[in-house]
Amino acid sequence: PTSYPQVLENFLNCLPNHVHGSNPIFEAIYTPSNSSFQSVLVAYIKNRRFLTSDTPKPLAIVVALHESHVQATVICAKFHSLQIRIRSGGHDFEGLSYRSDVPFVILDLFNLRSIDIDIDSETAWVQSGAILGELYYAIAKKSKVHGFPAGVCPSIGVGGHFSGGGYGNMMRKYGLSVDHVIDAKLVDVNGKILNRKSMGEDLFWAIRGGGGASFGVILSWKIKLVRVPEKVTVFMVDRTLEEGATDIVYQWQAINKLDKELFIRAQPEVRRNDKDEKTVRVRFIALFLGNTKKLLSLLKKSIPKLGLKQEDCKEVSWLESTMFWTNIPLGTPTEALLNRSIPAELFFKSKSDYVKKIISKHDLENIWKQFMKTEGMVLQWNPYGGRMKEISASETPFPHRAGYLFKIQYFTLWFTQGTEASDRHIRLAREMYDSMAPHVSKNPREAYLNYRDLDIGRNPSNETNFQEAQVYGSKYFKGNFLKLVAVKKRVDPDNFFKNEQSIPPL
Ligand code: FDA
Repeated sequence: PTSYPQVLENFLNCLPNHVHGSNPIFEAIYTPSNSSFQSVLVAYIKNRRFLTSDTPKPLAIVVALHESHVQATVICAKFHSLQIRIRSGGHDFEGLSYRSDVPFVILDLFNLRSIDIDIDSETAWVQSGAILGELYYAIAKKSKVHGFPAGVCPSIGVGGHFSGGGYGNMMRKYGLSVDHVIDAKLVDVNGKILNRKSMGEDLFWAIRGGGGASFGVILSWKIKLVRVPEKVTVFMVDRTLEEGATDIVYQWQAINKLDKELFIRAQPEVRRNDKDEKTVRVRFIALFLGNTKKLLSLLKKSIPKLGLKQEDCKEVSWLESTMFWTNIPLGTPTEALLNRSIPAELFFKSKSDYVKKIISKHDLENIWKQFMKTEGMVLQWNPYGGRMKEISASETPFPHRAGYLFKIQYFTLWFTQGTEASDRHIRLAREMYDSMAPHVSKNPREAYLNYRDLDIGRNPSNETNFQEAQVYGSKYFKGNFLKLVAVKKRVDPDNFFKNEQSIPPL
């Protein structure tokens, strides 16, 4: 067998032979001997849990400067049997876009970030390396009455986000990001660039929620913009248990029956009260695609216990609402959305669940008791209903459509380096998740692909066992898993595009 430095050399020597035109690839290559290697590697490691001396490092990073650099990387990595990891924004919760237990190369797309908006046709082409904040900003520069339904964190990469589904606070009105993807450009396993027509409807279906990394490298997406009012209403109010948070959350669970224009996230957090005792505070964060007057009258009828007042509400542009949702103070220049860095000290672990039946007040009280044992955990409860229940479960690989009240994200955050802190936080997160079993979906216990969680099933880095894939695949995709397998078999029968939770070809 070839030694790895030799394989790397063969790979690097191969690259220039597959680059078209005058697009030299040597400027795109970073190996550990390059002084910028470490800073390029780290720039898009968003979870510091995977920035330790034990985290496996790539043999090289190819920061594509041109589409043909992507083609060359795929062709040469395949020819020399090198694994690649594809990275756009680097937000993968388990770091699968930049780490592997076998020798590998990172194909980094952060430089392919152009955004072309055509307001006449209400469409845009967005390259995978663009971040959501750049997309929102670019749309608002062209129009005050257009937007796009996608995630609430502006530094997320479009490449990973769309290929895993993509949801945000317009989900009840417009569904997921993938419900508005109308074309895509992808580099397949043979290094060919395909579009919707040439890739075929089955592959176009698979990359809209089935995880791009199992099927190819998505270069860009064509999206259909959506209409938003010139002014929308936002609020963020906190209610402690002492202020009736349990009753409010109980009422809030019926939100999935309300107007599609309304999205209220309920976010339970553990806090200390005046007597320095642990208590639960629930933060309610909302986007209403309408004015304050209509919102107040709606909530007076549906969630009166929230006690929302006019002064809690702010009418802002849709672009400002995206800043509000990510805690950027209103009044800050909207260029803040273009910031690609998130604070460097974040370590996190995420898990997800789907709730289909109303949780009783008694059960909510028990949930709070368990929740108070966690450390650094925030729960994000995101309401479904509206447009989500009108789209069939097989329309895209994302199966969680009708019949869901809300999705839970368990997000645990800590700031201390070292295995002791990380083991403790992750153990407490798993205990919380285990305690929720009676209240959430069963057989399978469903999960959201973009909230990647290796606890729910995984394969080794270098092989994709079908039985094991069925374990995580059924949770992420339910009945769509087997269709994803069939597509994989057609487009990548030798399983070149793989990771610990990819789709197997058999
Ligand atoms: P990254 O580059 O890490 O890629 C993620 C996965 O996609 C990897 O498997 C990678 O190989 C693959 N991939 C990336 N680019 C590809 C390409 N061009 N072609 C093929 N495969 C590709 N989600 C959500 O729906 N709504 C939300 O509001 C949020 N909020 C949020 C906040 C924060 C702080 C984090 C860390 C994460 C979220 N997410 C989220 C989850 C987010 O949508 C998810 O992590 C995305 O996969 C991130 O996409 P990136 O391109 O940034 O990640």
